[in-house]
Amino acid sequence: MRRMTGFPSLRLGLPIPLLVALLSAFALAGCGAAAGDPVQGEALYRQETIGERGAPGCTTCHSLEPGEVKVGPSHAGVGARAAERVRSPEYAGEATDAAGYLRESILDPDADVVGGFDPGVMYGKYEEVLRESQVDDLVAFLLTLQSD
Ligand code: HEC
Repeated sequence: MRRMTGFPSLRLGLPIPLLVALLSAFALAGCGAAAGDPVQGEALYRQETIGERGAPGCTTCHSLEPGEVKVGPSHAGVGARAAERVRSPEYAGEATDAAGYLRESILDPDADVVGGFDPGVMYGKYEEVLRESQVDDLVAFLLTLQSD
């Protein structure tokens, strides 16, 4: 009879790197780290209305064209700007990284107001009408916007 020694993974025949990758993925999901889907996020972003109560969609006020101001700032390059803003001494919110900044911008728009824009203008109830996974997806999409 064979002695059962070694890691369980070896007995399962799964390669260790795959196992490590799977475990890290579970760990990340458990920590609530941005597990969003950027493709879903872009689809949500482009909807005319969003969320349970038909809240105004992002493109009502935001453009993806560089420099095009509708009601709010253009989102061209916002992923890169988020990373800079969160490190700037003027930043007034509580996020510590780009994903956190974008999440905060959606859920608590007045925590930090983009220069040249007024507080209280961005729709302020996304926290109530969007599911957590929808916010994750939007953040994942905005993070992909890295250049103007
Ligand atoms: C009614 C208009 C309006 C709608 C709708 C709106 N926004 Fe905004 N948004 C603004 C304004 C105005 C600002 C700038 C003032 C501020 O920082 O709150 C802004 C700022 C932002 C910022 C920070 C941008 C930067 O350059 O740092 C992000 C990110 C953002 N909005 C995401 C969204 C997303 C995602 C949606 C859709 C779920 C959305 N917004 C819907 C008006 C809007």
